[in-house]
Amino acid sequence: MELKLSRRDFGLAAAGVVAMGATAMPGFAGAADAGGDWLDIIKAQHQELDRLLAAVKSAGSHEARVAAFKRFSVYLFAHCLAEEVTVYPALAITGSESASKQLYGEQDGAKVLVARVADALAAGHDSDLPAMLDTLGTALHAHVAEEENRDFPPLKAKEDAATNTRLTSEFKATFRRASA
Ligand SMILES: [Fe+2]
Repeated sequence: MELKLSRRDFGLAAAGVVAMGATAMPGFAGAADAGGDWLDIIKAQHQELDRLLAAVKSAGSHEARVAAFKRFSVYLFAHCLAEEVTVYPALAITGSESASKQLYGEQDGAKVLVARVADALAAGHDSDLPAMLDTLGTALHAHVAEEENRDFPPLKAKEDAATNTRLTSEFKATFRRASA
């Protein structure tokens, strides 16, 4: 049986419109419940994204590649959405509006790269994937470095305890809904 997934499938799954199935996505909701505050959770999710992307690269068949990319993209979109509705607005209001805009733009760019990979997989052009995944990985690493080193620690330091607590619970709830 050949697994066919369109760009639309990935988008709808990320938006929670299409159920991906409990066996296909084990443990994703738990990722939002890892200990610590919003920054600890985000750092842990960045590491998980690296692991999920490596699993796409090392998949040994088209079907395994499609399944691994589905897991990666759903996780990535849930992570992006949680940042975009909780942390990036706080960064724009309390920290730097230009840094917030830059992060939104970079995540939009990543979504386009994900759509290109989904199109290539749907067309069976698996040989195009290594270069595309390298491009995606490089973009993600640069983006993550900005978040973890430049933008998020000063934001956390600037916010008061109540706001950090609210950001943590809103981030968790959004990620959980988007990855269910
Ligand atoms: Fe992030």
